[in-house]
Amino acid sequence: MVSDVSTPAGPRAVTAVAPAKINLHLAVGDVRADGFHELVTVYRAVDLWEQVTVAFEVPGRGEGGTAGARGVGGGARGATVVARDDGPGGCDDDDIAVTVAGPGADQVPTDRTNLAARAVALLREEAGSDARIAIRIRKGVPVAGGMAGGSADAAAALVATDRLLGLGLGRAELEQRAARLGSDVPFCIRGGTALGTGRGEELATLLHARAEQHIVVALADGGLSTPEVFAELDRLRTERGEAGQAGGRREDAGQSGGRALPRAGRTDQLVQALAGDDPAAIAALLINDLEPAALSLAPGLRRTLRAGLEAGALHGTVSGSGPTCLFFCRDREHAIAVAAEISESGVCREVRITHGPVGGARIIDGPGPGPGPDPVPGPAADTRPVAGVGSTAGPGATADVVDHPTGK
Ligand code: C5P
Repeated sequence: MVSDVSTPAGPRAVTAVAPAKINLHLAVGDVRADGFHELVTVYRAVDLWEQVTVAFEVPGRGEGGTAGARGVGGGARGATVVARDDGPGGCDDDDIAVTVAGPGADQVPTDRTNLAARAVALLREEAGSDARIAIRIRKGVPVAGGMAGGSADAAAALVATDRLLGLGLGRAELEQRAARLGSDVPFCIRGGTALGTGRGEELATLLHARAEQHIVVALADGGLSTPEVFAELDRLRTERGEAGQAGGRREDAGQSGGRALPRAGRTDQLVQALAGDDPAAIAALLINDLEPAALSLAPGLRRTLRAGLEAGALHGTVSGSGPTCLFFCRDREHAIAVAAEISESGVCREVRITHGPVGGARIIDGPGPGPGPDPVPGPAADTRPVAGVGSTAGPGATADVVDHPTGK
């Protein structure tokens, strides 16, 4: 289960993967005193993966490209240099070096704000370790796309670093650390399908929600900032006199005047529908309170949503805070047809086909997600090739991809 080189004292490098998330239901309450919003969400992990390798920097070797890229290759300062942490969650650039590869890599920070670096710093401090650690991230989830790519990096980094440093934390303990790093990070560790409450970090797995769902993912040019999308929702609600109605049912929303914003109600019906395998029944219950805010900041997404519905998708929505759009389909063949039509219409940068639920973060030993030590519910990743469309390259990234022939 451990990649790269091992020594009797333990592994020198560990690689883990973690999945993207989508929100089948995303109900956003009002802003709390701590600046977060109270959420009720139904998370689902889908078959797009971030891959993270954590490695000790070894004297005389300069682990992988990372150390060399940062000018500390050759191990001149070795693995026993005294750490200069910034405190919990912080990291010193000299002690934790980050490199990122894959689509959108240039948009990912490699300094102490990188979530994987914060995850490594957190566990390194807990282990009382002063080791210099190199992190290599391979992106398979859209950057700033509303699918928790950064959170998946943190999740994979936690799982890998736990093994690298021999901490032996259980999944629950890792999820508890994950919640300190971000609202979606615990779910990226857990995977499957889960109800999320609090700010999204309190999870209850929906064991019965196992029927496979096929989804077309339309990637946009550029990203949206999650805090800005939440702030825009607050602004729209205030403007329309809808603030303070958290928990109200969708049909009650915005009665005070102006055009009503959707206000996701209870999850009961969706949770019940997820026990079955009727994709249309499930699609009819999907809702995302952040969608109007994302559309307000990126109005061009309306065209993408329209194109997906015209292509015959059962339901189209912005993914989380966007700008990625999701189209829910009857089955795999339907998803391929919808993806091809969206791709033809030229409304987005790239189209992929994915499916869920899949398991959560796990250590891998080779090219693709393997069973973790503590598997979570959900079918194994589907790596079958699809005739007529390409496949994303890279370990762990197994979704099919349809590149738009002409670009946007
Ligand atoms: O938890 P995370 O760091 O991923 O959140 C990023 C930002 O998204 C927060 O700083 C906050 O602005 C917003 N957010 C929120 N309410 C949540 C989750 C996130 O307002 N429940």
